[in-house]
Amino acid sequence: MRPLGMVNGEIVDINANVVPMEDRGHQFGDGAYEVTRVYNGRCFALKEHMDRMYRSLRELRIPITYTFDELAEFHERLIKESGITEGGIYLQITRGVAPRAHNFPDTVVPRLTMSIRPVGTGAALTAVRENGAKIIFVPDERWLRCDIKSLNLLGNVLGKQKAKEAGCFEAVMIRDGFVTEGTSSNMFIVRDGVLWTHPANNLILKGVTRTFIVEKIAPELGIPVIEKAFTPEFAKGAAEAFLSGTTTEVAPVIAIDDAPVSDGRVGPITRKIQKAYIAMIDAECSR
Ligand code: PDD
Repeated sequence: MRPLGMVNGEIVDINANVVPMEDRGHQFGDGAYEVTRVYNGRCFALKEHMDRMYRSLRELRIPITYTFDELAEFHERLIKESGITEGGIYLQITRGVAPRAHNFPDTVVPRLTMSIRPVGTGAALTAVRENGAKIIFVPDERWLRCDIKSLNLLGNVLGKQKAKEAGCFEAVMIRDGFVTEGTSSNMFIVRDGVLWTHPANNLILKGVTRTFIVEKIAPELGIPVIEKAFTPEFAKGAAEAFLSGTTTEVAPVIAIDDAPVSDGRVGPITRKIQKAYIAMIDAECSR
């Protein structure tokens, strides 16, 4: 079992020096990415992730040069060659390599890099999913196209570091007095039996995990959902709260800004959603 990299479909050593000086991803953050989980040697929700990748590329006006079947084959090859069965696959496509200038180059071929690493067996993440996480609220300092999964993640990076320094699992961002999302996750709260989450507009990333919860899991469990922005105070008064994401899965939130959410224990609706999500993974990747 070994982490591996890939450049334009060719397997490379994870530590290979493969980024050209003038790759626009490197110099401008001019590209998009996806992170897909591997369970039992199979990708979970690959189609959904690649569909979102294509959407990000269209929004950035980066030409699409790989078919879904090719991208699926790259994922499968990385799994096979690495021997990693529980992991994460990172994929990024940049506009390509050209002499540095802000406007798009006239002739440029998008450049794809990928990597696979083992994840998901860490005790810390398991403990968070089981016992719940503490989070902090921070200002949302990002741009206004957070719906694009672009390489520009400085706002997210600075937010997550603040969470780490506060001894918290995640920083959830506030824009104009409303909760948007976590630095690498979407946020949900439960009040009076209703599940609340920010609408999937330009201010958040429409998480694949979020979509499963909103469109499949909650309806099947008979839990009403409202996609409407809420304030930090409203969240602090919630009965339950949780985060969703590819690496996070469904993580209960038990404290916000050092104050317990409700009685500070993982809530029953969160547990049900968590179980249903794991069942979806099991069904697709049959562990
Ligand atoms: N992050 N919001 C943001 C800002 C994210 O970066 C992510 C995912 C999510 C959840 O999306 P999904 O359910 O599709 O994973 C929400 C990935 C995992 C990352 O950057 O590592």
